[in-house]
Amino acid sequence: MTMNLLDKIDRTKLPQHVAFIMDGNGRWAKKLGQIRLFGHKRGVKTVKEMLTAAGNLGIRYVTVYAFSTENWSRPIDEVSGIMGLLSNAIDDEIDNMMKNGVRVSVIGEVERLSDPLRKKIAYVIDRTKNNNKLDFIVALSYSGRWDIVEASRKIAEDCISGKISPDDINYDLFPKYLSTAGVPDPELMIRTSGESRISNFLLYQLAYSELYFTDVLWPDFTKEELYKALISYQNRERRFGKTSEQVKK
Ligand code: IPE
Ligand code: IPE
Ligand code: MG
Repeated sequence: MTMNLLDKIDRTKLPQHVAFIMDGNGRWAKKLGQIRLFGHKRGVKTVKEMLTAAGNLGIRYVTVYAFSTENWSRPIDEVSGIMGLLSNAIDDEIDNMMKNGVRVSVIGEVERLSDPLRKKIAYVIDRTKNNNKLDFIVALSYSGRWDIVEASRKIAEDCISGKISPDDINYDLFPKYLSTAGVPDPELMIRTSGESRISNFLLYQLAYSELYFTDVLWPDFTKEELYKALISYQNRERRFGKTSEQVKK
């Protein structure tokens, strides 16, 4: 490397929130002649590296897509293998997260998870709830459509109970009913493994996110790859519908 990638990052223009679609674990394992779960295991390592790198940069929110609603249709062995890895990752990482000020939250249809895993998740959420350096949001059994539909249901309930009226429903109110209530929308969404799709991730929240797609498979994604994504993000002009001239003012 001729110039350090880290030096090319403008620390004053970092995103507050970076979201990741962690894709390519299976292909990574297959290339090595290993079973898919081997790739998922290595993927956990990348998550740790991202949390460290984001924490060092001062990025406040990191969301990872760990398991989608659609992923429930994978072979049962893979599903239970992933759930086992999640459970182990909580055990292995809780002390580190306490040390590094990481607050964990989970978004998704957690009712579908096993009781022991739900209990463990509840424990890690409670244990880390007063940490305030980095918010680590895990999308688990998550889908963007689920999130929007759930929000709509809750809004309908609050209308019926008289807590709000239909006239109150606007762009300020609606996101307060989403699973990400209180969290700013991701300025940057990174997807690994060469797929250029959203796969039912944060559909409402990604409305104006900068999207970064890379061919690198998730287990091979390093902090240098994150720096590249951040540099790409910083070289974009976020116009939000305006003209370039208006934005430059
Ligand atoms: C992403 O890797 C992890 C999950 C979806 C749980 P994949 O398992 O989708 O890996 P590929 O896409 O098959 O390579
Ligand atoms: C998206 O990856 C979900 C997660 C990363 C958890 P997939 O590999 O399941 O996505 P598709 O189905 O190929 O779009
Ligand atoms: Mg995939």
